[in-house]
Amino acid sequence: MLNQLEELKLNALQELKDVNDIKGLGSWRVRYLGRKSNLTKVLRSLASLPLEERKVVGARANQVKVDLEEGLRQRERVLQEARLVVSAKEEPIDVTLPGRPFPIGHLHPITQTLYEICDIFVSMGFQVVEGPEVEWDYYNFEALNIPKEHPARDTMSTSWIDFETDSGESPMLLRTHTTSVTARIAETVPPPIRVVEPGRVYRYEASDATHTPMFYQIDGFVVDKGVTISELKGTLFEFARRFFGENRKVRFRCDYFPFVEPGVEMAIECLLCGGKGCRLCGNTGWIEILGAGMTHPQVLQRGGIDPEVYTSFAFGMGIDRLPMLRHQIDDTRLFYSSDLRFLRQF
Ligand code: DAH
Repeated sequence: MLNQLEELKLNALQELKDVNDIKGLGSWRVRYLGRKSNLTKVLRSLASLPLEERKVVGARANQVKVDLEEGLRQRERVLQEARLVVSAKEEPIDVTLPGRPFPIGHLHPITQTLYEICDIFVSMGFQVVEGPEVEWDYYNFEALNIPKEHPARDTMSTSWIDFETDSGESPMLLRTHTTSVTARIAETVPPPIRVVEPGRVYRYEASDATHTPMFYQIDGFVVDKGVTISELKGTLFEFARRFFGENRKVRFRCDYFPFVEPGVEMAIECLLCGGKGCRLCGNTGWIEILGAGMTHPQVLQRGGIDPEVYTSFAFGMGIDRLPMLRHQIDDTRLFYSSDLRFLRQF
Protein backbone atom coordinates (compact mmCIF):
# COMPACT_ATOMS: atom_id res chain seq x y z
CA MET A 1 0.00 0.00 0.00
CA LEU A 2 2.83 2.35 0.93
CA ASN A 3 4.66 1.52 -2.29
CA GLN A 4 1.52 2.14 -4.22
CA LEU A 5 1.20 5.58 -2.62
CA GLU A 6 4.83 6.37 -3.40
CA GLU A 7 4.40 5.38 -6.99
CA LEU A 8 1.21 7.39 -7.28
CA LYS A 9 2.95 10.47 -5.98
CA LEU A 10 5.91 10.08 -8.33
CA ASN A 11 3.67 9.61 -11.35
CA ALA A 12 1.48 12.53 -10.42
CA LEU A 13 4.37 14.95 -9.91
CA GLN A 14 6.08 13.73 -13.06
CA GLU A 15 2.94 14.36 -15.08
CA LEU A 16 2.43 17.75 -13.48
CA LYS A 17 5.67 18.96 -15.01
CA ASP A 18 4.15 18.61 -18.47
CA VAL A 19 1.02 20.57 -17.66
CA ASN A 20 1.20 23.92 -19.42
CA ASP A 21 -2.20 25.53 -19.15
CA ILE A 22 -5.11 26.04 -16.80
CA LYS A 23 -7.18 23.36 -18.46
CA GLY A 24 -4.39 20.85 -17.95
CA LEU A 25 -4.13 21.81 -14.28
CA GLY A 26 -7.87 21.21 -13.86
CA SER A 27 -7.83 17.74 -15.30
CA TRP A 28 -4.68 16.86 -13.37
CA ARG A 29 -6.45 17.86 -10.15
CA VAL A 30 -9.47 15.70 -11.01
CA ARG A 31 -7.23 12.78 -11.89
CA TYR A 32 -5.01 12.84 -8.79
CA LEU A 33 -7.00 14.65 -6.10
CA GLY A 34 -10.60 14.24 -7.27
CA ARG A 35 -13.37 12.11 -5.76
CA LYS A 36 -12.62 9.18 -8.03
CA SER A 37 -8.85 9.43 -7.82
CA ASN A 38 -6.74 6.55 -6.49
CA LEU A 39 -5.61 8.69 -3.59
CA THR A 40 -9.19 9.36 -2.50
CA LYS A 41 -9.89 5.64 -2.82
CA VAL A 42 -6.97 4.88 -0.52
CA LEU A 43 -8.13 7.45 2.01
CA ARG A 44 -11.68 6.03 1.93
CA SER A 45 -10.44 2.50 2.40
CA LEU A 46 -8.48 3.41 5.56
CA ALA A 47 -11.47 2.62 7.76
CA SER A 48 -11.33 -1.02 6.79
CA LEU A 49 -7.64 -1.40 7.70
CA PRO A 50 -6.32 -2.77 10.96
CA LEU A 51 -5.47 0.00 13.40
CA GLU A 52 -1.66 -0.15 13.11
CA GLU A 53 -1.66 -0.22 9.37
CA ARG A 54 -4.37 2.45 9.27
CA LYS A 55 -2.10 4.83 11.24
CA VAL A 56 0.91 4.36 8.97
CA VAL A 57 -0.94 4.30 5.67
CA GLY A 58 -3.25 7.12 6.79
CA ALA A 59 -0.36 9.40 7.71
CA ARG A 60 1.43 8.58 4.46
CA ALA A 61 -1.68 9.10 2.31
CA ASN A 62 -2.40 12.46 3.96
CA GLN A 63 1.20 13.50 3.39
CA VAL A 64 0.92 12.53 -0.28
CA LYS A 65 -2.26 14.58 -0.53
CA VAL A 66 -0.49 17.62 1.01
CA ASP A 67 2.47 17.15 -1.35
CA LEU A 68 0.27 16.92 -4.40
CA GLU A 69 -1.71 19.98 -3.40
CA GLU A 70 1.51 21.89 -2.84
CA GLY A 71 2.84 20.68 -6.21
CA LEU A 72 -0.32 21.91 -7.87
CA ARG A 73 -0.04 25.36 -6.27
CA GLN A 74 3.59 25.63 -7.29
CA ARG A 75 2.91 24.68 -10.87
CA GLU A 76 0.11 27.21 -10.99
CA ARG A 77 2.46 29.93 -9.79
CA VAL A 78 5.10 29.01 -12.38
CA LEU A 79 2.56 29.14 -15.18
CA GLN A 80 1.12 32.38 -13.90
CA GLU A 81 4.50 33.95 -13.98
CA ALA A 82 4.93 32.75 -17.51
CA ARG A 83 1.53 34.33 -18.23
CA LEU A 84 0.20 31.07 -19.60
CA VAL A 85 -2.44 30.80 -16.95
CA VAL A 86 -4.43 33.44 -15.19
CA SER A 87 -6.49 33.05 -12.10
CA ALA A 88 -10.20 32.81 -12.64
CA LYS A 89 -10.85 36.37 -11.45
CA GLU A 90 -8.44 37.94 -13.85
CA GLU A 91 -9.54 38.63 -17.43
CA PRO A 92 -7.25 36.79 -19.86
CA ILE A 93 -7.16 39.96 -22.01
CA ASP A 94 -7.75 43.40 -20.59
CA VAL A 95 -10.01 44.79 -23.27
CA THR A 96 -9.99 48.22 -21.65
CA LEU A 97 -6.29 48.74 -22.34
CA PRO A 98 -5.72 51.30 -25.09
CA GLY A 99 -4.46 49.69 -28.29
CA ARG A 100 -0.89 49.95 -29.38
CA PRO A 101 -0.36 53.01 -31.55
CA PHE A 102 -0.27 51.97 -35.20
CA PRO A 103 1.77 54.45 -37.19
CA ILE A 104 -0.16 55.67 -40.22
CA GLY A 105 1.46 57.95 -42.74
CA HIS A 106 -0.15 60.84 -44.55
CA LEU A 107 0.04 62.39 -47.97
CA HIS A 108 3.10 64.40 -48.90
CA PRO A 109 2.48 68.17 -48.56
CA ILE A 110 2.81 68.60 -52.32
CA THR A 111 0.30 65.84 -52.99
CA GLN A 112 -2.06 67.45 -50.46
CA THR A 113 -1.72 70.76 -52.30
CA LEU A 114 -2.20 69.11 -55.66
CA TYR A 115 -5.42 67.42 -54.49
CA GLU A 116 -6.67 70.67 -53.02
CA ILE A 117 -6.07 72.57 -56.27
CA CYS A 118 -7.76 69.83 -58.30
CA ASP A 119 -10.77 69.88 -55.94
CA ILE A 120 -11.20 73.62 -56.47
CA PHE A 121 -11.13 73.26 -60.26
CA VAL A 122 -13.31 70.15 -60.25
CA SER A 123 -15.93 72.15 -58.34
CA MET A 124 -15.83 74.65 -61.23
CA GLY A 125 -16.55 71.92 -63.78
CA PHE A 126 -13.01 70.91 -64.75
CA GLN A 127 -11.83 67.35 -65.37
CA VAL A 128 -8.42 66.14 -64.16
CA VAL A 129 -6.22 64.60 -66.87
CA GLU A 130 -2.63 63.42 -67.01
CA GLY A 131 0.00 62.95 -69.68
CA PRO A 132 3.43 61.29 -70.04
CA GLU A 133 6.51 62.66 -68.30
CA VAL A 134 8.74 61.34 -71.09
CA GLU A 135 7.45 63.42 -73.95
CA TRP A 136 8.03 64.05 -77.63
CA ASP A 137 9.74 67.32 -78.46
CA TYR A 138 6.65 67.98 -80.57
CA TYR A 139 4.15 68.23 -77.69
CA ASN A 140 6.52 69.95 -75.29
CA PHE A 141 7.72 72.59 -77.79
CA GLU A 142 6.73 72.44 -81.46
CA ALA A 143 2.97 72.18 -80.98
CA LEU A 144 3.17 75.10 -78.54
CA ASN A 145 4.77 77.54 -80.97
CA ILE A 146 8.28 76.86 -79.71
CA PRO A 147 10.15 75.60 -82.81
CA LYS A 148 13.82 74.63 -82.71
CA GLU A 149 16.05 77.67 -82.29
CA HIS A 150 13.22 79.57 -80.58
CA PRO A 151 14.69 81.59 -77.67
CA ALA A 152 11.96 80.30 -75.32
CA ARG A 153 13.76 76.94 -75.40
CA ASP A 154 16.66 78.53 -73.55
CA THR A 155 14.47 79.18 -70.52
CA MET A 156 13.58 75.53 -70.26
CA SER A 157 16.59 73.33 -70.80
CA THR A 158 15.67 69.72 -70.28
CA SER A 159 17.12 66.25 -70.15
CA TRP A 160 17.00 64.65 -73.56
CA ILE A 161 16.13 61.01 -73.80
CA ASP A 162 16.84 60.81 -77.49
CA PHE A 163 18.12 63.96 -79.12
CA GLU A 164 18.65 62.96 -82.75
CA THR A 165 16.59 60.20 -84.21
CA ASP A 166 17.68 58.46 -87.41
CA SER A 167 14.12 57.92 -88.52
CA GLY A 168 13.49 61.64 -88.50
CA GLU A 169 11.01 61.33 -85.63
CA SER A 170 10.63 64.12 -83.12
CA PRO A 171 13.24 63.70 -80.36
CA MET A 172 12.22 62.65 -76.83
CA LEU A 173 12.75 64.53 -73.61
CA LEU A 174 11.59 64.86 -70.03
CA ARG A 175 8.75 67.36 -70.28
CA THR A 176 9.60 70.84 -69.02
CA HIS A 177 6.02 71.87 -68.32
CA THR A 178 2.58 70.30 -68.11
CA THR A 179 1.51 72.52 -71.03
CA SER A 180 2.56 69.52 -73.15
CA VAL A 181 -0.64 67.84 -71.95
CA THR A 182 -2.61 70.79 -73.34
CA ALA A 183 -1.14 70.08 -76.79
CA ARG A 184 -2.18 66.43 -76.47
CA ILE A 185 -5.69 67.20 -75.23
CA ALA A 186 -6.24 69.69 -78.09
CA GLU A 187 -5.48 66.84 -80.49
CA THR A 188 -7.58 64.14 -78.87
CA VAL A 189 -10.56 65.67 -77.08
CA PRO A 190 -13.32 67.38 -79.07
CA PRO A 191 -14.47 70.73 -77.58
CA PRO A 192 -15.94 71.85 -75.25
CA ILE A 193 -12.85 71.19 -73.10
CA ARG A 194 -12.34 72.15 -69.47
CA VAL A 195 -9.40 70.29 -67.95
CA VAL A 196 -6.60 70.66 -65.42
CA GLU A 197 -3.37 68.76 -66.01
CA PRO A 198 -1.21 68.16 -62.93
CA GLY A 199 2.11 66.34 -62.87
CA ARG A 200 5.88 66.24 -62.53
CA VAL A 201 8.08 68.31 -64.80
CA TYR A 202 11.86 68.47 -65.27
CA ARG A 203 14.43 71.15 -65.93
CA TYR A 204 18.11 70.63 -66.47
CA GLU A 205 19.36 72.95 -63.77
CA ALA A 206 21.25 72.85 -60.51
CA SER A 207 19.16 72.73 -57.36
CA ASP A 208 19.15 75.56 -54.86
CA ALA A 209 16.63 76.95 -52.36
CA THR A 210 14.11 77.74 -55.11
CA HIS A 211 14.97 75.22 -57.85
CA THR A 212 14.99 71.46 -58.14
CA PRO A 213 15.54 69.50 -61.36
CA MET A 214 12.12 67.91 -60.82
CA PHE A 215 9.07 69.74 -59.55
CA TYR A 216 5.30 69.86 -59.95
CA GLN A 217 3.05 71.96 -62.16
CA ILE A 218 -0.60 72.13 -63.01
CA ASP A 219 -1.91 73.52 -66.30
CA GLY A 220 -5.48 74.36 -67.20
CA PHE A 221 -7.07 74.35 -70.64
CA VAL A 222 -10.54 75.58 -71.57
CA VAL A 223 -12.00 75.52 -75.08
CA ASP A 224 -15.54 76.49 -75.98
CA LYS A 225 -17.55 78.78 -78.21
CA GLY A 226 -17.39 82.37 -76.96
CA VAL A 227 -14.78 81.92 -74.21
CA THR A 228 -13.23 85.31 -73.39
CA ILE A 229 -10.46 86.68 -71.22
CA SER A 230 -13.05 87.67 -68.62
CA GLU A 231 -13.77 83.99 -68.03
CA LEU A 232 -10.04 83.41 -67.62
CA LYS A 233 -9.88 86.17 -65.00
CA GLY A 234 -13.04 85.01 -63.24
CA THR A 235 -11.78 81.43 -63.02
CA LEU A 236 -8.33 82.36 -61.71
CA PHE A 237 -9.69 85.01 -59.30
CA GLU A 238 -12.00 82.39 -57.85
CA PHE A 239 -9.13 79.92 -57.55
CA ALA A 240 -6.95 82.48 -55.72
CA ARG A 241 -9.77 83.37 -53.34
CA ARG A 242 -10.46 79.73 -52.54
CA PHE A 243 -6.83 78.76 -52.12
CA PHE A 244 -5.32 81.85 -50.47
CA GLY A 245 -8.37 83.27 -48.69
CA GLU A 246 -11.35 85.53 -49.42
CA ASN A 247 -9.58 88.84 -49.12
CA ARG A 248 -6.37 88.08 -50.96
CA LYS A 249 -5.76 90.75 -53.63
CA VAL A 250 -4.89 89.51 -57.11
CA ARG A 251 -3.07 91.33 -59.91
CA PHE A 252 -2.91 90.59 -63.65
CA ARG A 253 -0.18 91.98 -65.87
CA CYS A 254 0.88 91.36 -69.44
CA ASP A 255 3.43 88.64 -69.98
CA TYR A 256 4.71 86.61 -72.89
CA PHE A 257 4.34 82.90 -73.52
CA PRO A 258 4.65 81.61 -77.08
CA PHE A 259 1.46 79.52 -76.87
CA VAL A 260 -0.93 82.28 -75.76
CA GLU A 261 -1.92 85.66 -77.16
CA PRO A 262 -2.41 87.82 -75.21
CA GLY A 263 -0.42 86.36 -72.32
CA VAL A 264 -0.73 87.38 -68.68
CA GLU A 265 0.89 86.73 -65.36
CA MET A 266 -1.09 86.57 -62.16
CA ALA A 267 0.29 87.66 -58.81
CA ILE A 268 -1.20 87.67 -55.33
CA GLU A 269 -0.65 90.15 -52.56
CA CYS A 270 2.33 89.00 -50.47
CA LEU A 271 1.25 86.58 -47.75
CA LEU A 272 3.98 87.68 -45.38
CA CYS A 273 3.80 91.48 -45.49
CA GLY A 274 0.29 91.94 -46.91
CA GLY A 275 1.58 94.14 -49.75
CA LYS A 276 3.95 96.43 -47.85
CA GLY A 277 7.08 94.86 -49.29
CA CYS A 278 9.41 92.38 -47.62
CA ARG A 279 12.10 89.78 -48.23
CA LEU A 280 9.64 87.16 -49.46
CA CYS A 281 8.18 89.36 -52.21
CA GLY A 282 11.44 91.14 -53.06
CA ASN A 283 9.96 94.39 -51.71
CA THR A 284 7.29 94.52 -54.39
CA GLY A 285 4.33 93.47 -52.25
CA TRP A 286 3.31 90.92 -54.91
CA ILE A 287 4.12 87.30 -55.55
CA GLU A 288 3.74 85.85 -59.04
CA ILE A 289 2.03 82.51 -59.02
CA LEU A 290 1.02 81.66 -62.57
CA GLY A 291 1.14 82.34 -66.28
CA ALA A 292 -1.96 82.34 -68.46
CA GLY A 293 -3.50 83.70 -71.62
CA MET A 294 -5.83 83.16 -74.55
CA THR A 295 -4.58 80.07 -76.36
CA HIS A 296 -2.82 80.98 -79.61
CA PRO A 297 -4.96 80.18 -82.68
CA GLN A 298 -2.08 78.20 -84.20
CA VAL A 299 -1.95 75.93 -81.14
CA LEU A 300 -5.67 75.21 -81.51
CA GLN A 301 -5.32 74.67 -85.24
CA ARG A 302 -2.47 72.19 -84.79
CA GLY A 303 -4.74 70.24 -82.48
CA GLY A 304 -7.49 70.23 -85.12
CA ILE A 305 -9.67 72.83 -83.37
CA ASP A 306 -11.02 75.60 -85.60
CA PRO A 307 -10.04 78.95 -84.00
CA GLU A 308 -12.75 80.70 -86.04
CA VAL A 309 -15.36 78.67 -84.18
CA TYR A 310 -13.79 78.14 -80.78
CA THR A 311 -11.85 80.35 -78.41
CA SER A 312 -9.75 79.11 -75.54
CA PHE A 313 -7.73 80.07 -72.52
CA ALA A 314 -4.93 78.31 -70.69
CA PHE A 315 -2.95 78.73 -67.50
CA GLY A 316 -0.08 77.03 -65.74
CA MET A 317 1.52 77.24 -62.34
CA GLY A 318 4.13 75.61 -60.16
CA ILE A 319 2.65 73.62 -57.30
CA ASP A 320 5.66 73.46 -54.96
CA ARG A 321 5.58 77.23 -54.57
CA LEU A 322 2.11 77.23 -53.02
CA PRO A 323 2.73 75.25 -49.80
CA MET A 324 6.01 77.18 -49.51
CA LEU A 325 4.11 80.45 -49.47
CA ARG A 326 1.40 79.15 -47.20
CA HIS A 327 3.73 77.69 -44.57
CA GLN A 328 6.63 80.08 -45.12
CA ILE A 329 9.04 77.33 -46.14
CA ASP A 330 12.22 78.85 -47.49
CA ASP A 331 13.87 75.88 -49.19
CA THR A 332 12.11 73.82 -51.84
CA ARG A 333 14.63 70.97 -51.48
CA LEU A 334 13.03 70.07 -48.14
CA PHE A 335 10.07 68.60 -50.05
CA TYR A 336 12.33 66.08 -51.75
CA SER A 337 14.74 65.21 -48.94
CA SER A 338 12.50 62.57 -47.30
CA ASP A 339 13.25 64.02 -43.88
CA LEU A 340 10.41 62.83 -41.67
CA ARG A 341 11.02 65.62 -39.14
CA PHE A 342 10.01 68.04 -41.91
CA LEU A 343 7.24 65.97 -43.50
CA ARG A 344 5.47 65.09 -40.24
CA GLN A 345 4.57 68.73 -39.74
CA PHE A 346 1.92 68.68 -42.48
N1 DAH B 1 4.24 76.47 -69.18
C1 DAH B 1 4.60 77.74 -68.61
C2 DAH B 1 5.86 77.57 -67.76
O1 DAH B 1 6.21 76.48 -67.43
C3 DAH B 1 3.49 78.29 -67.73
C4 DAH B 1 2.27 78.67 -68.51
C5 DAH B 1 2.09 79.95 -68.94
C6 DAH B 1 1.30 77.73 -68.81
C7 DAH B 1 0.97 80.32 -69.65
C8 DAH B 1 0.16 78.10 -69.53
C9 DAH B 1 0.01 79.40 -69.93
O2 DAH B 1 -0.80 77.21 -69.83
O3 DAH B 1 -1.11 79.76 -70.64
O4 DAH B 1 6.51 78.54 -67.47
